Amino acid sequence: MIFRYSQWKQDAYDARLAETPQELEAILAPLAAAGVDAFHASTRRYWLPEFEDSDLNLAGWTKKLTGRPAITVGSVGLNGEFLKAFQGQGAELGSIDNLLDRMERDEFDLVAVGRALLQDPNWAAKVLAGRFDELAPYEPASIQTLS
Ligand SMILES: Cc1cc2nc3c(=O)[nH]c(=O)nc-3n(C[C@H](O)[C@H](O)[C@H](O)COP(=O)(O)O)c2cc1C
Repeated sequence: MIFRYSQWKQDAYDARLAETPQELEAILAPLAAAGVDAFHASTRRYWLPEFEDSDLNLAGWTKKLTGRPAITVGSVGLNGEFLKAFQGQGAELGSIDNLLDRMERDEFDLVAVGRALLQDPNWAAKVLAGRFDELAPYEPASIQTLS
């Protein structure tokens, strides 16, 4: 079972369940003990530190505190968070070097991708092959491909 939780809300970017690692542990430890196999930690920008005095993001803290695999998400491959897309804004390509560094450090285990995949269904294959020059910036029109 994968448990997804969030430290923000669409209408309140600063809505938070936990203000400290201790508060987060109090929420997540019982869930892990109850049988959650992995956690999906929702953030708008995966590169932002979740708490002071550490550059771990929310997925990183989740893995550290529970020992369970963690999924990160939020603006992967792009430089702007996704709600702007609903205001008609695009997003330029963003480097994934920081993402790869974090994965190599085992900060988290899996990565979820939104707009980059809407823009290009072959995003993962191109990234895996190092074909970064074939990636395009996110255009809001690509979200229409869902309807
Ligand atoms: C209309 C809309 C509302 C969303 N609201 C929330 C929310 O309130 N809280 C949350 O954690 N994620 C929310 N999400 C985030 C998505 O579940 C997902 O993490 C995100 O779209 C990843 O996209 P990206 O890779 O383009 O950044 C919302 C997504 C959309 C499209």
